[in-house]
Amino acid sequence: MSVASYLEKNKARFLQELFDLLRIPSVSADPKFKGDVVAAANFVKNSLEKAGADRVEICETPGFPIVYGEKIIDPKLPTVLVYGHYDVQPADPYELWDSPPFEPVLKKTAIHPEGAIFARGAADDKGQFYMHIKAFEAMMATSDLPCNVKFMIEGEEEIGSDNLDKFVLANKERLRADVILISDTHMIGMQDPSITVGLRGMAYMEVEVTGSNRDLHSGTYGGAVANPINVLCKMIASLKDENEHITIPGFYEKVQELSAAQRQRLNEAPFDLSEYKGKLDIQEVHGEKGYTTIERIGIRPTLDVNGIWGGYTGEGAKTVLPSKAFAKISMRLVPDQDWHEIATLFETHFKAIAPASVTVKVKAHHGGAPAVVSDSSLGYQAAEAAMEETFGKRPIPTREGGSIPIVALFQKELGSDPILFGFGLDTDALHSPNEHYGVKNYLIGIETIAAFFRHFSTLNGK
Ligand code: BES
Ligand code: MN
Ligand code: MN
Repeated sequence: MSVASYLEKNKARFLQELFDLLRIPSVSADPKFKGDVVAAANFVKNSLEKAGADRVEICETPGFPIVYGEKIIDPKLPTVLVYGHYDVQPADPYELWDSPPFEPVLKKTAIHPEGAIFARGAADDKGQFYMHIKAFEAMMATSDLPCNVKFMIEGEEEIGSDNLDKFVLANKERLRADVILISDTHMIGMQDPSITVGLRGMAYMEVEVTGSNRDLHSGTYGGAVANPINVLCKMIASLKDENEHITIPGFYEKVQELSAAQRQRLNEAPFDLSEYKGKLDIQEVHGEKGYTTIERIGIRPTLDVNGIWGGYTGEGAKTVLPSKAFAKISMRLVPDQDWHEIATLFETHFKAIAPASVTVKVKAHHGGAPAVVSDSSLGYQAAEAAMEETFGKRPIPTREGGSIPIVALFQKELGSDPILFGFGLDTDALHSPNEHYGVKNYLIGIETIAAFFRHFSTLNGK
């Protein structure tokens, strides 16, 4: 039997299994879900074993475990390392979901007329890494596995992959591979397949601004003592100028400027600005002057407040002059910015701009390096050929704005090319309510992964 007919025969079960995985609320950020994150690791372990992997192991870390498994059919054949993450983002705010986030359902949408799977983690990343386990199962079951394969599926991607670094450094030999496949990004569209070749890095900060030593009556003290929320807002507003250029001294020092030709090539990707605005229901886009939307996302760094709080936010009105205000601020970085350096520049600047009426604390949560991967490696060529085969169209290289911090470490420490072989769409509502993943994307992904193995083996002369 061919991989394609095995897929056709088993697709209902492949969907049911993904639904079972999506029912586990493996939210790594929230201690309340600790047991569920571990349950998801066990689910991954069992599915690797069932698909035919050897040496399947739950590798404990100080945080959540990494699931490893492999199938070495012949040491002389090329080896593919698959990376993915079984943890998911918190589902909050729950009330904005049309159906409960951990009770997956199939629904048709305008973009997914064949149906999409709605659940937290459907696209990021359960639906995407599970395609690899199913492609592996199909290749095993049809005696059609042309490469060795190793799986490393982690549970802390959404909280910064802190323990994965150490695991990779300690297991370089075990993880040795000719190519690394990661399905955790998206394509331009079903009619416009693409392969991500750039990811931004990140520096995630939290700030605390303190005024008086206690909350005050805003009549008795208002106007005479600093309000830390007002001060914080002013400080944040000053972090970008009227051209949306970040004002932190030294911030752009290491930013790689692309040549006019490179920029032109980037902007040749299909992109319809009015459709983009329409889908988001916005009148106008907003960003750094002098750059297109594609460039603002792919090759320019940025700074965003991810959360801000303080004072009274309960029912009704309370006249209070709060003692403290807080914000979570993240910066997306591009080559060659270093997140430790950027975190330090931020801290120094943020403290320098604080008026004497407040005190400021700055803490770095986590960060990660940006990455650019080759668009001409053997792995890339195999991915290109596989997509051309299943989509009927040659994919184009794109640069994404999101971050997968571990990619840069893979490049540095494992020395193999990571291929960002994502099959989602930017409308899949990652990290948002109503996250979903197209059934067609899931199935074509499985088929394309199997095709990748075939092309990669052929390109390696096997
Ligand atoms: N899968 C995403 C990254 C992504 C999304 C890349 C879309 C390209 C396009 C990943 O799970 C993620 O959310 N990463 C975080 C990184 C962070 C928690 C260190 C991100 O980008 O915010
Ligand atoms: Mn992800
Ligand atoms: Mn994510």
